[in-house]
Amino acid sequence: MGSSIFKQEEGDSYSRNSSVTSNQSSSSTVLKLDKEPPVLNDHQKSLLRESWSSLQDDIAKVGVVTFIRLFETHPDFQETFLPFRGLSNSDMENSLILKAHALRVMITVDKCLTRIDSPTRLDDLLKGLGHRHISYNVHIDYIDMMGEQFIKAIRPKFGDAWSSELEVAWTGLFDVMTYHMKRGIIQE
Ligand code: HEM
Repeated sequence: MGSSIFKQEEGDSYSRNSSVTSNQSSSSTVLKLDKEPPVLNDHQKSLLRESWSSLQDDIAKVGVVTFIRLFETHPDFQETFLPFRGLSNSDMENSLILKAHALRVMITVDKCLTRIDSPTRLDDLLKGLGHRHISYNVHIDYIDMMGEQFIKAIRPKFGDAWSSELEVAWTGLFDVMTYHMKRGIIQE
């Protein structure tokens, strides 16, 4: 279903060589496969689990806010989502497709936290997911943008309880997620 809602970009493809540079765009898409995946320490893992459980009631909303923030900061990103072209933010908030994907991202966060101590299961989950995003024509750079906006979307939910430690832990989790997803995008 995915590809139908994405614009086809001519020549849009990914290098599958070992030194891996996406030929789609900038040097920011370079991913060295010999680099070790990012690692979270035990304290960060428990901070993540604790903060995630306190977000449970807001998960769908956080997902949608994350996407709206992405659209606001990267108008080209919104263009990628054809059905959302020209919609106001309030229209987007009501979009079922947007909500469905936002929720899928949140479910993936949940699955990652469940598998956080099983690197192989985590890699299997995320590599496959990244690989499927090729067929959704998702630009590899977009994968990197999710974490920052997700963190900005959850931060207000914590008020004074938000800390730089929490920010580093959530940034770390998205680093892990995007690392493995990008492996799936650039590898066969
Ligand atoms: C951390 C980043 C992301 C995660 C965790 C994520 C997660 C998911 C999941 C779980 C699905 C369900 C289908 C499947 O399992 O293959 C999906 C589908 C899809 N994703 Fe993502 N995604 C991410 C980033 C993006 C971005 C940046 C875009 C677009 C710019 C995007 C566009 C799509 C599309 C078009 C589909 C197919 C339609 C749908 O199922 O809603 N994804 N994604």
